[in-house]
Amino acid sequence: MDSTNSEGLRWAQDPLNPAPEGAAVVADEQTAGRGRWGRSWFSAPGMSLTFSVVLRPQLSLGRLDLLTTTVGVAVVEAVREVSGVDALLKWPNDVVLGDRKLAGILVESVSGAGKLVAVVAGIGVNLSSADLSVPEEIAQRFVALNDVSDDRVDGVVLLAAILSWLEPLYGSLAADPSAIIRTATERSSILGHEVELRSPTDEVITGRALRLREDGSLEVELDSGEVTAMRAGEIVRTRRV
Ligand code: BTN
Repeated sequence: MDSTNSEGLRWAQDPLNPAPEGAAVVADEQTAGRGRWGRSWFSAPGMSLTFSVVLRPQLSLGRLDLLTTTVGVAVVEAVREVSGVDALLKWPNDVVLGDRKLAGILVESVSGAGKLVAVVAGIGVNLSSADLSVPEEIAQRFVALNDVSDDRVDGVVLLAAILSWLEPLYGSLAADPSAIIRTATERSSILGHEVELRSPTDEVITGRALRLREDGSLEVELDSGEVTAMRAGEIVRTRRV
């Protein structure tokens, strides 16, 4: 398959048989897996869990940003449950162990006639690192669950755990996201730390990550003392204070 996100978007827009909410596309191999910022997501066959879920949220635009956090919390909690490792959420869409990336989340949406038609939440979790074709500098930034977990984690078991965490969290998103924010705060790898953050427009800011707001944005106290909220971006560097 090219990409489970692309397939999920096709399923969601199929005029004859539109995929219902909760439909999941799972692949052992992706030939064109993609990440955020137009990057490609590399995964060798059988080495990772790669899947996407079709969602049809009835959410205000403000709440939609929180969907990535919701999926992130589900992945973090499921990884902890099935493997016992201390996975954390690196705002907004990475799951990390220490300073290495364990999983990435890519949420994409499709709209028509000014309305949101569907959202596809794609998740890639590194399970094994036995692939020698990955360049060393990339391999050094990633970690695979089965390299650090005492018990071997099966991809299907992890998939089931992520979906069972996701269902109630997603269900609570429209009415009351406070539990999602609370857990995302508890499991954050960056709150309270000095961060260097790149915005989608390539602006780089530095400051202290203060808290997650109700809409999923990250509140940062800039070096100048000014407090700002970032809705999207990428943490380039983190430093403990
Ligand atoms: C990122 O870290 O930038 C996000 C990576 C998301 C990768 C997953 S793998 C399953 C799904 N299909 C894709 O093409 N991408 C996501």
